[in-house]
Amino acid sequence: MNPVERLFSLEGRNALVTGGTGPLGRVLAETLAAQGANVTVSDRDEAACAEVSGRLTAEYGTRCVPLAADLLQPGGVADLVARLDGPLSILVNNAAFTGTAGIPGYAVPFEEQTDEAFALASTLNLQAPFALARELAPRLRDSGDGSIINVSSIYGLVAPNMGLYEGTVMGNPAAYGATKGGIVQLTRYLATVLSPEIRVNAFAPGGIARGQAEEFTERYEKLTPLGRMATEDDFRGVLAWLASDASRYVTGQTIAVDGGWTVW
Ligand SMILES: NC(=O)c1ccc[n+]([C@@H]2O[C@H](COP(=O)([O-])OP(=O)(O)OC[C@H]3O[C@@H](n4cnc5c(N)ncnc54)[C@H](O)[C@@H]3O)[C@@H](O)[C@H]2O)c1
Repeated sequence: MNPVERLFSLEGRNALVTGGTGPLGRVLAETLAAQGANVTVSDRDEAACAEVSGRLTAEYGTRCVPLAADLLQPGGVADLVARLDGPLSILVNNAAFTGTAGIPGYAVPFEEQTDEAFALASTLNLQAPFALARELAPRLRDSGDGSIINVSSIYGLVAPNMGLYEGTVMGNPAAYGATKGGIVQLTRYLATVLSPEIRVNAFAPGGIARGQAEEFTERYEKLTPLGRMATEDDFRGVLAWLASDASRYVTGQTIAVDGGWTVW
């Protein structure tokens, strides 16, 4: 291994990825396995976790295991922590309700957004990362190379321009931006209280192309200096960097990975 490969290597390190069977989560889990990490793939569905972890073990030869857990259930975080085996170097807080989550009272016009939906999003998007960081800090600290990576969003950095959604059925709930902005601040908070043993950073993805309405995509792309929506693969690099020693003097930061969408 040359010195730069060594910086990015996660050989012998254990990682946990929440929401690890979702479209972005499985790419993040794969990235860490490709760097040599043993990845625990956690999500709600046991079979999906086993499918992803089995594929990673077969492909990369690291010890990847499934860990089904529902982070919205009372005691869900405690249950996950109790069943997570062994030491831990990397925690990726990726599970969240996005703007397309079909919860009633969530991605609807502002006047129709409910307290119940806001509370659910707060629990999954913000409280679960907080509780996981607190409960797993001792193991991350003991590893000697602890790194927490929180997944924020462009909507944690700026407010939505609702004009983008005109004429579509898409929405952008207040709870999404509030929780994703909360993650940015939680990242700074944790970076200080968990220092110097554990680094804590976030990245803020831009919108990922997933067959959105054509008029939305056109408007969105016009506002993106790099001229296109994101793909899941666009986030491999930032995760590989933040999880590894390649970013060993970086903590408390949120890196926008958005094709320049938030620069103007
Ligand atoms: N899709 C985008 O355009 C976009 C843009 C910016 C940021 N992000 C962020 O990227 C991350 C992943 O996004 P995605 O589009 O892959 O989201 P997704 O909704 O497709 O996947 C999120 C995962 O979280 C899991 N999850 C949901 N409820 C859960 C629960 N109660 N317990 C445990 N896990 C649960 C889901 O099963 C899913 O696998 C999220 O944090 C999201 O906010 C996405």
